[in-house]
Amino acid sequence: MLLTIPEVFTPEQVAEIRRLLDQAEWVDGRVTAGHQSAQAKDNMQIPEGHPIAEKVGERILSTLGQNPLFITAALPVKVFPPLYNRYAGGQSFGTHVDNAIRHVKGTSHRVRSDLSATLFFSQPEEYDGGELVIEDTYGLHSVKLPAGHLVLYPSSSLHHVRPVTRGARVSSFFWIQSMIRQDAQRSLLFDLDLAIQNLNQERPDHKVAVQLTGVYHNLLRQWAEV
Ligand code: NI
Repeated sequence: MLLTIPEVFTPEQVAEIRRLLDQAEWVDGRVTAGHQSAQAKDNMQIPEGHPIAEKVGERILSTLGQNPLFITAALPVKVFPPLYNRYAGGQSFGTHVDNAIRHVKGTSHRVRSDLSATLFFSQPEEYDGGELVIEDTYGLHSVKLPAGHLVLYPSSSLHHVRPVTRGARVSSFFWIQSMIRQDAQRSLLFDLDLAIQNLNQERPDHKVAVQLTGVYHNLLRQWAEV
């Protein structure tokens, strides 16, 4: 499933976060890349554990924790503390698959990456290129969203970031361990949840909604790892 979650942050909140991120020291992005992806990666990042990274990260996670679409789609168990990248001057990230297991620096915590997320902090008109291109069985999907919007996609998919040839592309990226490891099962639960919500809106108190909600929870009970 490839899903856009719009307006996670308002333009005012984006501007405030950008002010904070611009104050941080940015370093070569290869520090968080695995062996294979280090060869493909060319960008700048804020070091893990940097106070600004942690401050903004807490805002991102608390905001997403109250975002019904994010919760419904991701069914999160754990979220890796958000990281930040910046591409400019022709920088790009070649085709790769994200590492399966991420260690949270300085802790014994590990997160299995079921879903990858990119939260855009630059407006599309601020830069040329920089599209996140995700490959799946339906082909290539090019993603370039307004600032404050987030894209969620399976961490198992090949993806790359096209060269930024003008301006700068600033975003946050992180991984989610979902209660539902398999993308197909998670997508099915998401569709069922949306259908139940639509039914509740169009035919409030319809008794079928109770049955369908039962099916949703019984599937979740069978498949979930918490
Ligand atoms: Ni990646």
